[in-house]
Formats: sequence, C-alpha cells, structure tokens
Amino acid sequence: MADHKLNAKKLLAYNRINNKYTIPSHNLYPHQWSWDSPWIMYGYTELKEFDNAENEIFSLFDYQWTNGLVPSIVFHNLENNTYFPGPDMWDLHITADHLTNKNNCTGIVQPPIHADACLKLFQKSKNLKFLEAIYPKLLKWHKYLYNERDINDEGLVYIRHPWESGMDNSPNWDESLNRINITEFKYSKMRTDNKKVNSDERPTDITYERYLYLINLFKECRFDEKQIFHKSEYIIQDVLFNTLLLKSNYALLEIVKILNYSNDINLLNYWINKTKASFESKFFKNDFYYDYDLKAEKLIENKTISGISAILTCEKPKLLVNSLKDNFLDIKNNNYNISSLDRNHNMFDSINYWRGPMWTNLSWLIISGLYKVNEIELANKIRLNCIKKIEEIGFYEYFNSNDTENKKSSGCGDNCFSWTAAMYICLTSNIKM
Ligand code: GLC
Repeated sequence: MADHKLNAKKLLAYNRINNKYTIPSHNLYPHQWSWDSPWIMYGYTELKEFDNAENEIFSLFDYQWTNGLVPSIVFHNLENNTYFPGPDMWDLHITADHLTNKNNCTGIVQPPIHADACLKLFQKSKNLKFLEAIYPKLLKWHKYLYNERDINDEGLVYIRHPWESGMDNSPNWDESLNRINITEFKYSKMRTDNKKVNSDERPTDITYERYLYLINLFKECRFDEKQIFHKSEYIIQDVLFNTLLLKSNYALLEIVKILNYSNDINLLNYWINKTKASFESKFFKNDFYYDYDLKAEKLIENKTISGISAILTCEKPKLLVNSLKDNFLDIKNNNYNISSLDRNHNMFDSINYWRGPMWTNLSWLIISGLYKVNEIELANKIRLNCIKKIEEIGFYEYFNSNDTENKKSSGCGDNCFSWTAAMYICLTSNIKM
C-alpha cells in the first residue's frame, strides 16, 4: 500500500475508539458525529474493513430516538468534556425523556447520507445480515424526516439548526439568524473550539449565542417539531440536505429490491418522485439551486456549495458545471480548489469554515457528479488537485481555497481529521458516490 494511503488507514485507526466508532479528530471533535460516520464508512469500505464500517453505523443508530431522529452527536465517552456544548447543555433526561432514554446525545440531526454509505458497504461486503439489520433503522430515519420535517407535505425536508446542515456558518443562515435578537453574551465565553484552533477560521461569538439560543428553544418545546416550527426564526429547506435525502432514497430502493421487501417499494418511489418534483420547482432559479427560507418564504439567493451539490441528483447538472467553473474555481489562475462559497460573494473568506474554504467531502461529492455527467477532464483535474494537496499538506479539516502552491499554512481547522483521510482513500481509488 502506498505511503499516504497507509497513513490514511492509520489515521482512521488512531481516531477509532474501541473498534466501535470513529471520532472526527481528537482535538476539536472527540465524539461521534452523524454525517462524519458515513463519510468515514466509504473509506473503510474501500479498505475492505467491513467490520469497522458496520460497527460505525450501529454505534450511531443505537442512539436513534423512538420517533426516528438520529442525533448529530453521540457523546459515548462522558469523561471527555472538552467539547462545547456537551450533554449537559441538552438536558435530554428532562427535555426529551418521552423520546429517548439515552441522554448522551444531541436533539438535532445531520444530513441523511447514511443509507447510501450502507448500500455501498453491502455492495462490497455482500453481508446480507448487515443489510437486514440496518434497513429498518434507516427507513425509520427517513420516515422521521418526511413525517416531522416536511410541514407543508412538499417532499422537501427542513432543518431547524445551522448545525443540521453540516455547514455550520454558511452565509445562507445569516438572515434567519439575524432575526434572533441577542441581548446578552452568555454562552460564547464557554466555547472551546476557538481556543483549540485559529479563531479566524471559526464562527463568530454572536453566531454561537444564536446556536445556543436555538438549543434552548428546542428544550423549551420539549422537541415537539410543530411547536419548534412555529416559534423558531430558523427553518430552512437546504439543497445539500435534500440532495443527500434523494440519493439515500435511491439507495433504500435498491436495498429493498435486494432484500425482497416489495411492500416498501411504493413508499420509496412516492418519496423519490415527490422530492424530485419539488426540488426542481422550488430550489431552481435561472441557473442555480438555492436554499429556501420557510419563515421569510423566499429563496436565499447566495451561490454556495450546497447549490452545487445538487449536481449529484438534479435535472440541470450542466448549468451547475458552468457555475462551478465561473464561481467556485479560478481556472485562469490554475486554481482547482472548489470553494464553499461563490468567490465573488462579498462574504467570501478563503479560510473561514463554510464561508469559502475547500472541503474534501463535498469535493468528492461534486467530483462524483462531474463523472456522472461526463465532465471527465474537469473531474480529473479537481480530483488530482485534492489528492496532491492532502499529500503535501496533511489530513486537515479544510483548506484555504486560494492556495495553489500547497503551502503548509493553507491547512485549516483541525489536523488528523477522519473524513479527509477517508476521502483521500476514495479519491485515490477513484470510486464514486
Ligand atoms: C463541524 C462541521 C460538520 C462536522 C463536524 C464534525 O461542525 O461543520 O459538518 O460534522 O464539524 O466533524
């Protein structure tokens, strides 16, 4: 095995706890995160570490709530309390005791990429028992999303916290968050993230106050989704979240065919058709797919990486290829880092988290979409750029999207980050999502 690939494998082993689950990184994220686990599973699958991949998903779904919610974080190890906000901020034993008897997790979700990762795992492992065991949990997860998070019955699921998007401080959330009036800075002083890594690469304090304000609102509503919907200012239908939902619905459809569970085929087709139709009619405008603010009842017209991610499942992928070239790459300067925000946007910041940097997981997703629509040359260029960057700089959480020389200093956030290692394995093997 080539050196770098071996290092990626070793990094995953270093971040894997008791051979059960894999933390994103020891420094910033010492717990299990919901959508990190499937990204990591793609890597394990490619390494043929099938047990690790299976344990990963079961460790997460063990914490699924009775209504089907899959928590964004599971705090398996309560002794490690260096992450803020930890379980005591959620108080689930009081606020959600009717929905879960496990208190060491959050009450929000992350994007539903799980079913796709499970299908890919089965396609390599051929372990039918695994598929039989995980399928009901995955179905219950999607039922929660459609039953509880689609208030207008449109086939589009909404998120109720920025952390649910996986893109914590995307400018798409600014307008909704600004409607939350903060009079006192109570929680941001308890932050640990901005002390562990460069604070210029992290969200601001007022954003953190609003993150915590929303958590308090959920607790007050005892996680009743309808109440939260009515009381909250932040209710968004996000393109990436619904793209992954659609992708995972296709995976579930394949899984039921493998398992011969023909009773569920109609439901899955119903979801797929409904989501697809609303996705095109609601998110698309002119040449791009935009998030929708359900409280202000309008599109959020920023070009972000969320819109580009639609390339995986949408009906107008060629328009997104144009936008990718014009807004997210800088081809005339030989820059093939996909930025997370339109480079011409006034908020663009090449090192600040989801406001400009390059992320390897979404790069792999977009690369997969490019191969699918036959943009082979462009896909190869972006892929090789990503590989070289990781090899020369390291397994960083994200990268300065203006860097074309692979300078050491352009690695951002945490180092030794699991999904970057997993993505490196997928990119070098050239497998697709
Ligand atoms: C950050 C990222 C999120 C990720 C988490 C753990 O919060 O924005 O997408 O899941 O870190 O890696």
